[in-house]
Amino acid sequence: MSSILILNGPNLNLLGTRQPEVYGSTTLADIEEMCSAHAARLGVEVSFAQSNHEGVLIDHIHSAKGTHGGIILNAGAYTHTSIALMDAVASVELPMVEVHLSNIHARESFRHTSYISRVAIGQVCGFGARGYLMAMDALAERLAAP
Ligand code: DQA
Repeated sequence: MSSILILNGPNLNLLGTRQPEVYGSTTLADIEEMCSAHAARLGVEVSFAQSNHEGVLIDHIHSAKGTHGGIILNAGAYTHTSIALMDAVASVELPMVEVHLSNIHARESFRHTSYISRVAIGQVCGFGARGYLMAMDALAERLAAP
C-alpha cells in the first residue's frame, strides 16, 4: 500500500514562529505542501495529522493500520519520553521513519535518547524541512520493495 501518514507531535503546529534559529522559518503548512508535491513525484499518496496530545497521536497511529502502508513520525518532545508512542508503533507493525528538523544528537543530552528510534526503520535529523522529503524517499522505496 503506497500511502504514507505524516504525523507531527506537540508544538510542531507552531513551526515558522517557534525558535526559528533552531527549527527554521518554514511553517507546518509549507512542509505539508512540499510533501504533497514530493508525493506526486514519487507516485505515493500522503496524509497529514498533527496533535499536541499523546493519546490523539496514539489514535492516529492505530488508525494508520489498514489505511496507510507506513508512517513518518516527528513526535516532538514525546520522542524522548513516550513509551506509549513507541508501543503504539510496535503494535501496528507498519514501517515508520523518525524525523526531526534539528540534529537532536548535537543538542541537550535529554534529546539524545529516542524511544521512537527503537521501533523506527531509520532516523533523519538535522536537515530541517528537507528531512521529511528524505524520509519519504526512504519509506517509498521500502513500500515498493517486494
Ligand atoms: C524536534 C526535536 C525535539 O527534541 C523537540 O522537542 C521538538 C522538535 C525536531 O523536529 O527537531 O519538538 O522533534
